Amino acid sequence: MQGLAYGFLAAHADGDAGEAMDQNLKAALELSGADACRDYYRAWAATYDNGFARDMDYRLPAHVAAAFLGAGGAGPVLDVGAGTGLLAERLREMGFQGQIDAVDFSAEMLGVAGQKRLYAGLFQVDITQGLTLARVYRGIVSSGTFTAGHVGPEAIANLLEVALPGALVALSINRRVWAAAGFDRTLQALGDAGRIIDLRLLEVEVYGAAAAALDADHAGDKALVALFHAV
Ligand SMILES: C[S@@+](CC[C@H](N)C(=O)[O-])C[C@H]1O[C@@H](n2cnc3c(N)ncnc32)[C@H](O)[C@@H]1O
Repeated sequence: MQGLAYGFLAAHADGDAGEAMDQNLKAALELSGADACRDYYRAWAATYDNGFARDMDYRLPAHVAAAFLGAGGAGPVLDVGAGTGLLAERLREMGFQGQIDAVDFSAEMLGVAGQKRLYAGLFQVDITQGLTLARVYRGIVSSGTFTAGHVGPEAIANLLEVALPGALVALSINRRVWAAAGFDRTLQALGDAGRIIDLRLLEVEVYGAAAAALDADHAGDKALVALFHAV
C-alpha cells in the first residue's frame, strides 16, 4: 500500500464509542509493535476527535503548528502520522495556505482526515519502513506520533529522504521517551553527520486544564517540539 494516494475514504466506525477516553489513551501509550498500533487506531479513528482530543483538550497539534509557522515554515508540507488531520486544521486556522500532504499507516485515521478536505494527498505508509513518496517537501511536521507505544527515533532519518535541502522540520517528541528511547542521541548523531542543522527544542504541554479531571496520569504530559533544518 506504500505511496497509495487516497481520495476521500469513509470513516471506519467499528470502534467502541462508549469506551472510556482515559482507557484509550493509556492503552495507546502501551502498544507494542506496528500491528498492534495499526489495529488500535482502526478502532479509535471514529471517536478520536470528539472523544480523546476534545475531552483532553489536546493541544499538541496547535503547539507544533505554531512552532512551525513561527520559525518561518513554508509548503509544500508533509504531516507525518497525520491521523485525523488535527495538525493540518491548526495550520489552516493559523493562516497557512500552502499544500499539505498526510502520511499515516492507518487507513481509518486517514479516512477521517480525508473527509476534512485539508490535504492534497493522503499516503498510507509505515514510516518506520522508509518513505519513498514521489513528492519532496519544504516543511515536515508531526504531532503525537513520536511517543510511547508508537514511533521511535529511527524513523527520523526516513523523513529526511523526502525533505528538500533546507526544509524546516517540526516534530513533537513526548518527554517520557525523549531520552529513554534515544531521541536525544539520534538528533545529536544526525547533526554530527551533517544531515540536520539549527536544532532547537521547545517544551510544551500536551493537554489543557480539562485533562486533569479525566486522566491524572497523563494530564501533565509534556513534549519537546524539535525544530531543525534538513541539510
Ligand atoms: C497520537 S496519533 C496523532 C495523530 C495526529 N498527528 C494528532 O496529533 O492528532 C498517532 C498517529 O500515528 C500513526 N502512526 C503510528 N505509527 C505509525 C507508523 N509506523 N507509520 C505511520 N503512522 C503511524 C497512527 O496511525 C496515528 O494516526
